[in-house]
Amino acid sequence: MSTYPKTQALMARGRDFLGSDHAIMCGAMSWVSERNLVAAISNGGGFGVIACGAMTPELLDAEITGTKALTDRPFGVNLITMHPDLGDLIAICVKHEVGHVVLAGGVPPRCSVEAIKQSGAKVVVFAPTLALAKKLLRSGADALVIEGMEAGGHIGPVSTSVLAQEFLPALAKEHLVFVAGGIGRGEAIAGYLEMGAAGVQLGTRFACASESIAHDRFKQAFFRANARDAVASVQVDARLPVIPVRALKNKGTEEFTAKQREVAGVLDREEIAMAEAQLQIEHYWAGALRRAVIDGDTENGSLMAGQSVGMVKEEEPAAQIIARLMEESETALTRR
Ligand SMILES: Cc1cc2nc3c(=O)[nH]c(=O)nc-3n(C[C@H](O)[C@H](O)[C@H](O)COP(=O)(O)O)c2cc1C
Repeated sequence: MSTYPKTQALMARGRDFLGSDHAIMCGAMSWVSERNLVAAISNGGGFGVIACGAMTPELLDAEITGTKALTDRPFGVNLITMHPDLGDLIAICVKHEVGHVVLAGGVPPRCSVEAIKQSGAKVVVFAPTLALAKKLLRSGADALVIEGMEAGGHIGPVSTSVLAQEFLPALAKEHLVFVAGGIGRGEAIAGYLEMGAAGVQLGTRFACASESIAHDRFKQAFFRANARDAVASVQVDARLPVIPVRALKNKGTEEFTAKQREVAGVLDREEIAMAEAQLQIEHYWAGALRRAVIDGDTENGSLMAGQSVGMVKEEEPAAQIIARLMEESETALTRR
């Protein structure tokens, strides 16, 4: 008999779809979600996802090979739709017979959805609005992740609790919907499963797992942080668009605000063209996540983290985090 019968019953569709013991995905985190963490999550009963990020096709090829050497459990690959080599990256996933491709960072082109599906792999997409979700599901997406603004990394404007109330009653009966953003404990997982979610996706809670290669200083910053320290980046000037990112406050986030003011001033004085000004803002954070995760530069790097960071207090093996989440969910459901 299962150790978590009530949770497992509610996760049945998600588990079937993912092929994992539990319908708990570890959302792709650039630089963090590489072979070690991905394999540890999948070996621990969850579903790991490689973050391709800005990797070249050759690097992705090596990362998938490396992950396969560490686990024989299913895992997925997350591709950013605006990557210039998206087609080649898909071909690498197809070559390796990756079972699930997650398309993130914008509306996925129909041709990429088709190319993935033709290989027999499942396509998972993000949808910020119900209308777009319906359209993507009609065009062949196999499952949906809804991600609220509590999450770490790039975020939309709506909270997970509101997205869940909007999307789940409308879609969850006929479609597979995974809920992400702000989940730190199993009680919340139980709640979303009861609302019809097929499973959940967490990032922040897993970023500091023992198997995560994130720098010790990055992990210590997470352990010290409270929910209120994980703030969304702010746009200072209407002419200079900023895609909101949730990260821990540090010197870099303060200087980003100052940089926007400085560039806006230069624009006011007509000393710079609009396109050049916008590019300076867009490029400000280039390489910043790597600086924090790999180099441990917690002052100037980007410490992307969700509001659940306050619940991350120590390094634990991924399998232990997953078991704890399942236990908390089961206790909550048993108490009902
Ligand atoms: C450090 C970090 C990096 C992330 N990088 C990516 C990424 O490259 N692609 C992506 O689709 N999502 C990315 N995310 C979002 C996660 O995949 C996941 O959906 C999110 O963390 C879930 O919300 P939570 O942080 O509240 O658990 C990132 C999140 C974090 C914390």
